[in-house]
Amino acid sequence: MTQTPERRRSADADPASKALLFDYRQAANPVRPGLTEPIPYRCWGPELHAQGPSAILPLDLSDALGVPGPATSPGLAAHFIRIVGGEGVRAAATATSSLFYVLSGSGVCRSRDQLSGSEIHWQAGDLFVLPAGGTPLLEASTDSVLYWVHDAPLLTYLGVAPSAPRFEPTHYSGAWLQQELLALAAQPGSRNSNRLSLLLANRDLPSTRTVTHVLWAMYGLVPAGATQAPHRHQSVALDLIIACQPGVYTLVGTELNNDGSIRNPQRIDWQPGGAFITPPGHWHAHVNESGETAWLLPIQDAGLQTYLRSLDIRFA
Ligand SMILES: [Fe+2]
Repeated sequence: MTQTPERRRSADADPASKALLFDYRQAANPVRPGLTEPIPYRCWGPELHAQGPSAILPLDLSDALGVPGPATSPGLAAHFIRIVGGEGVRAAATATSSLFYVLSGSGVCRSRDQLSGSEIHWQAGDLFVLPAGGTPLLEASTDSVLYWVHDAPLLTYLGVAPSAPRFEPTHYSGAWLQQELLALAAQPGSRNSNRLSLLLANRDLPSTRTVTHVLWAMYGLVPAGATQAPHRHQSVALDLIIACQPGVYTLVGTELNNDGSIRNPQRIDWQPGGAFITPPGHWHAHVNESGETAWLLPIQDAGLQTYLRSLDIRFA
């Protein structure tokens, strides 16, 4: 029987030592099935949060990724939180950043650590972010569904816990987001744009221009009839679809054709209240054949990637 080079190398090592050596060619790119698992395509429909008792519903790919769960990507975890009116849910995570988008309902988020407390009154369309510290209690006045993304998987991997908050709890009202995006869309220069979006930022994080120092959030629309040119980035995207009619989809793939289109793309059809994952480095483009404007909210780890100068965003 032929021994694999990896086995031969392990047999050569001192069994009492943790030290190993690999031929460069065996270890230079360990992202492959059975080793460091590639990030898969996956989407989740709105039926996941359409009914049932109050619950946190993780979009958990930890088994496929071979990492502790819940995790939707190696560094981020996305969830739907369903809260029956009059009830409360604690959104506990050892994370530097938690982002909540309110798909439906209304209520209040109370967060308190040893030093201070905050109270954010939320309604459908609002987005708010919370730093490390405290365990937020989400109390719903009416039946509510929230999308929740945090970076606990990254901290679990690093083996660390946050030592200090890096920003203050921050609230972006849905009315403000929609007003500003519609104003952007109404500008003369926007008429021929097939991508109209606001990037959410924080005064305390001026250099990355992101919603937290780790997380990135975009409130965007895809006009009826738009076919975007593909783009890619090294951040993972956990995309939430806010609203759309049938006929809106994302094409995603690893290579481009000579004409700039995506080679052998996977098609992910949008559903209002659904979510899907766009793996790092994959080319993707949104297409709207529905006749109505479609609205989306991708959440990424692009705050961290920007700080590391590794985002590498490119357009076809
Ligand atoms: Fe993207």
